[in-house]
Amino acid sequence: MRYFLLLMTGLLLSGVWGCSGSDKPKLVMVTNATFRPYEFVSGQKIDGIDPAIVREIADALGYELEIQDMSFDSLIAAVQSGRADIAAAGITVTEERKKQVLFTDSYVIAEQLIVVRRDAPYQMVADLKKAVIGVQHGTTGDLYVTKNIREPERYAHAPLVISALLAGKVDAAVLDSEPARVFVQQKAADLRLLTVPLTSEEYAFAIGKHNPDLLVRVNRELRRLKQEGRLDSIIRHYRELCEVEAEQDVVGGHRSMMAHLRDSLYVNFVKDRRYLYLWNGFLVTVCVTFFAVLLGIAIGFVVAVIRSTADQTGRWKAADWCCRVYLTVIRGTPAVVQLLIIYFVIFGAVDVNKICVAIVAFGINSGAYVAEIIRGGIMSIDRGQMEAGQSLGLTYSQTMRMVILPQALKNVLPALGNEGIVLLKETSVSGYIALQDLTKGGDIIRSQTYDAFLPLMAVALIYLAVVMLLTRLLGILEKRLKRNE
Ligand code: ARG
Repeated sequence: MRYFLLLMTGLLLSGVWGCSGSDKPKLVMVTNATFRPYEFVSGQKIDGIDPAIVREIADALGYELEIQDMSFDSLIAAVQSGRADIAAAGITVTEERKKQVLFTDSYVIAEQLIVVRRDAPYQMVADLKKAVIGVQHGTTGDLYVTKNIREPERYAHAPLVISALLAGKVDAAVLDSEPARVFVQQKAADLRLLTVPLTSEEYAFAIGKHNPDLLVRVNRELRRLKQEGRLDSIIRHYRELCEVEAEQDVVGGHRSMMAHLRDSLYVNFVKDRRYLYLWNGFLVTVCVTFFAVLLGIAIGFVVAVIRSTADQTGRWKAADWCCRVYLTVIRGTPAVVQLLIIYFVIFGAVDVNKICVAIVAFGINSGAYVAEIIRGGIMSIDRGQMEAGQSLGLTYSQTMRMVILPQALKNVLPALGNEGIVLLKETSVSGYIALQDLTKGGDIIRSQTYDAFLPLMAVALIYLAVVMLLTRLLGILEKRLKRNE
């Protein structure tokens, strides 16, 4: 147990402080790394045209660059709130967005294109009136389709739209031209592009309105990069890189089931050491769960004692009221929403480690359930014991501490263990704040291979294995406690 605690603490600390130790001021860039060649996860790092350009700019301005990955529709809010300095994600300049943020000079011209399955009958936009169209949520493609064609199906990122298209869940995908081309190259046997573009747009970086000074400096560097031809060479480099990679990915011909499975296993887990996404994600999940459970128990314990004391003695009315509000609010709202509020609103402007945010959010969430479990345990102890304790000369709090709580805790142990198991699975929504937990690890693999089956199965199996292990441990613990009775 002691070693386990040490290991967990080490994990937490390395997660919290492991990042950087330089004294240069930090420039935080946010992106949505599912958008080749502009940004993508490569190994454990975020690479692509946008990170490369912003890195050059940050270097020139004397900043240390930190890149954070998040959902596309959170990017504008992130720079607006000051949580990030610059958003670089192939973001199209639009009038609506200009109301929220400042845009730098543009650096690329792009279009929205339609991708369909090779064998599909569609030739023109007009053919799509009855088709199911997939888009990435919150993008200009989403806006265009919603306004001009029909209500689309919205996915969290472009690779998911492509998986949906490949799986026949949607009939067409509307995506930015360059990522669309990369996808079609990668799946040349299955997909094709309709060549008529829907829109023409310009990409620029977004900066918070409170930071016009940064805008001026970034623009100056951007112009310099353009003049020096550096911008072009970065863009060319990544375009070519993605083309080559795409060619390597195309595996043609008909193969046997086994050969196919072997290839998929290789592509999903071995190639580019993709298994590391699962392993690192697993560590994050275990670490968040472990500390959230501890925090939850601490909170739950305090709340339970306050509430039962108020119930039994009529004291601590105000504290009891606060606890009730806490329980109602936490149990009345979804954990994801709480996580998002804690990350974007409460810690909105300060730079805190995401693992800590997740621990706090899930700890607070779990505390509410633990509180009721423990209170149930306290209630289950016969009232006579309190009276007996007090008539023996113990005070209320002494009886509580020495007589009631030890028995209560033993009674609720199975329920507490259960809560731990629930929490483990609950943390799978951590991806919403771009924390790379186990589920998100599987997601990243999916976004690179467009294969839904194997990554999801692997993730499910890992959760299952951990839960089975926990259940076993709980069983053993329960037996021991029984024997001690
Ligand atoms: N250009 C489109 C927009 O601004 C889509 C950009 C998507 N970018 C990304 N990194 N996923 O709405």
